[in-house]
Amino acid sequence: MEMLRHALSTADLAPHGFCLLWRPDLLLLHIGSDSIIALSYYAIPVALTYFVWKRQDIVFGWIFWMFAAFILACGTTHWVEIWTLWHPDYGMQGMVKLVTAAFSASTALALVVLMPRALALPSPSQYRQVRTALTSEVQQRHEVTRALQETEQRYQLLIESIADYAIFSLDSNGVIRDWNKGAERIKRYRAQEVIGRHFSIFYTASDRDRGEPLKALERALSEGRFETEALRVRKDGSQFWANAVIDPIREETGKLIGFAHITRDVSERRELEEKLRQAQKLEAIGKLTGGVAHDFNNHLTVIYAGLDRAKTMVVNNLALSQALESAMKGAESAASVTTRLLAFARRQPLAPKPTDIGALLAQTSGLLDRVLGEQIRIETVRAAGLWLAYCDAGQLENAVLNLAVNARDAMPNGGKLTLEVGNADLDDDYAAINPDVTPGSYVMLAVSDTGHGMSPEVMARAFEPFFTTKREGLGTGLGLSQVFGFTKQSGGHIKIYSEVGQGTTVKLYLPKAASDNRRTLENPIEDAPRGAGETVLIVEDDADVRTAAVSMLSGLGYVAIESHSPDDALRILRERSVDLVFTDVVMPGSITTRHLADHARELYPGVKILFTSGYTENAVIHNGQLDGNVELISKPYRREQLARRLRKLLTS
Ligand SMILES: Nc1ncnc2c1ncn2[C@@H]1O[C@H](COP(=O)(O)OP(=O)(O)OP(=O)(O)O)[C@@H](O)[C@H]1O
Ligand SMILES: [Mg+2]
Repeated sequence: MEMLRHALSTADLAPHGFCLLWRPDLLLLHIGSDSIIALSYYAIPVALTYFVWKRQDIVFGWIFWMFAAFILACGTTHWVEIWTLWHPDYGMQGMVKLVTAAFSASTALALVVLMPRALALPSPSQYRQVRTALTSEVQQRHEVTRALQETEQRYQLLIESIADYAIFSLDSNGVIRDWNKGAERIKRYRAQEVIGRHFSIFYTASDRDRGEPLKALERALSEGRFETEALRVRKDGSQFWANAVIDPIREETGKLIGFAHITRDVSERRELEEKLRQAQKLEAIGKLTGGVAHDFNNHLTVIYAGLDRAKTMVVNNLALSQALESAMKGAESAASVTTRLLAFARRQPLAPKPTDIGALLAQTSGLLDRVLGEQIRIETVRAAGLWLAYCDAGQLENAVLNLAVNARDAMPNGGKLTLEVGNADLDDDYAAINPDVTPGSYVMLAVSDTGHGMSPEVMARAFEPFFTTKREGLGTGLGLSQVFGFTKQSGGHIKIYSEVGQGTTVKLYLPKAASDNRRTLENPIEDAPRGAGETVLIVEDDADVRTAAVSMLSGLGYVAIESHSPDDALRILRERSVDLVFTDVVMPGSITTRHLADHARELYPGVKILFTSGYTENAVIHNGQLDGNVELISKPYRREQLARRLRKLLTS
């Protein structure tokens, strides 16, 4: 303490001016210079303080504070220099210098420590480089982002605009996240109505009860994809057949983020397949029943011949006569069944000609009145400018009768039957959804009733032979089969529209007649005349049928010669002349019966030919339509029928 006081004491000391001998010029020079230095030194910490205060983020801010303190101290030493010109406070001056020295030394030391870190700071040129690099990277990123956005937009637009597929995504729990146009069209929900809901709303109630939605997601997860064809529900509750595919969506790491769901409405295709299946089924049943009926007709021919012969031999035996009569009735109903089966199998002989269906309905109205009874009103609507249809008028009448009887049975308490006939063009679109239709012009006959209608199950099977919902004895189930076969064989189309409780409409489309396709129609049979000893060559491969025919013809007064094949018949014809060849259509052998007929005509220009067949699918009778110059009698034929045909031919 004593030492400090001694150092601060000014006793015995002379002021600094004294050394300058109080020369005013020197005093002024020192005062001026020191003042300027001190003021400048003081300005620097102010500036530094201002700088550090403004740039709070500056690194190494503390070194600026140290500089400020050091320079402030330096400035102060110059004020002290001026002070000591008059006051010899050299102790105090030393103290001030000491403080300045402390600040200087510590600042220098700090600078040494700081130097490597300061040097590590990026230089402005480095900053510029970095900035340039950064700018170009930012630009690149910008471009990539824009390209990505564009791709995403395009992709979004693509998905959005697909109308044939319902495309939407689900989160991992099955909640809908987005929705495209196709989904809106197929499922009929708008995006805002469905996003956020669970996708099980598209399932039927029974599928939901069985947990199908969850199972579908589980299968998609375990198998990588789930695909199904099933009924789905639209917003309005209606159902459609859907082909649905569910794919899981995963991140690159494999983490599940949701599912992609694609649905296609395949109802139309399913419907078409079902129609095709139905058509194929009926085709197959047709082939089978046609074959059976054909063989059956051969047997019936033999039965008829036997019964007819037996009848001629009965004398004074009432019981036997009655037994034969009832056997004959049985054979007749069997024949009626085979006829109807052949009609279904499209193998009945048809004699189509241009027919005015309107006129035909007018002719039938009396019969319909009787069949339908008083409780049913009949209305007939005939379009103006009606075309002629190309069909067998007799069979069409039969079809109308069948349909009317069905209508009557469907209206036990009475009702209304409407017969409507008009022109109809079935176009490609209609043909596309009805595989059996050939596009073209047709005459349409619609038979409608106000009866109990048909369920879809009954409708699906209505054309099948022997399908009936009527009590035993009331229906054979052959009516619609017959109408169906007739329409198809005529090159037409048939369609049922029915609603349970609402009634039924059956529409027949028969081809429009071209002006040049008239065909001869079999004339009605008038009488049953006997032969006059003419020679008839019977050609028949079935021995029983042949024997029966020989017996019939001999009994009718003809000379009957029999042959078992066309080849054998030709041999006989070369040996002797005949008046008429009565031949089955389809027979094994090296020549066809058509050729046999041609040879016979060559040998004997006036010879008559009569064909017979269980059905008509062969070279002579194409598609069941009689060739203009061909005569045919269908099996089973009755003795009287055959007699009339032979007479007519031989006298023509
Ligand atoms: N107009 C109709 N209204 C309601 N159901 C009908 C109608 N027409 C046919 N059906 C149904 O289709 C079934 C088959 O008809 P189809 O005419 O082939 O046979 P059927 O009338 O039962 O017997 P059949 O005509 O041989 O006497 C009928 O049993 C009936 O169930
Ligand atoms: Mg019927």
